[in-house]
Amino acid sequence: MLAPWNDLLALARQGEVARLGDALAGRAAQLRAHKPQPEAQKPYGRRVLHQSDQGEVMLAGWPCGAGAAPHDHGSATGLVFVIEGHFAETCYAFDGGNLRVLGVHRYAPGGYLRATPGAIHDMHAQSEGMTLHFYVPAIHDMRVFDPALRATFVVTGDAGAWSPRAGERVSARVAWDGACAP
Ligand SMILES: [Fe+2]
Repeated sequence: MLAPWNDLLALARQGEVARLGDALAGRAAQLRAHKPQPEAQKPYGRRVLHQSDQGEVMLAGWPCGAGAAPHDHGSATGLVFVIEGHFAETCYAFDGGNLRVLGVHRYAPGGYLRATPGAIHDMHAQSEGMTLHFYVPAIHDMRVFDPALRATFVVTGDAGAWSPRAGERVSARVAWDGACAP
């Protein structure tokens, strides 16, 4: 069995990534039983497995080729473990008018990425896959960047990393420099 989620969140908070990885090793089948499928019009499925004052644990299920929009995790630190599949992560800088690519990283099962507060990235599934996300603390607000609309959306932590769909809550929408008013 997996250790209690708060114990794993404590490891995430302390930066004990190797121990956290060890705790997750061999648990793919156990996690697969909870793998979420994407809802209509959404790129990947997300299922919150745990939320407390220690943080949040979310399991994401990805079809092959699916991608998140560029986003940050607000003031939370994110630690994402690849449980199944292969993924590419692109990291960005945002200057108010454009997203600039800082680098691309690739991950295989057992790999992990860390996103510091305010860091902007996206993930694309290069195969069908499953990722387990630890957020410390739980995400309150986060930014999602839409290069096509040239707009940044502030959404709540229960939103996915995609440009908000009709009916989804948006706390704020900010046009990028030089963009037409929304
Ligand atoms: Fe992320």
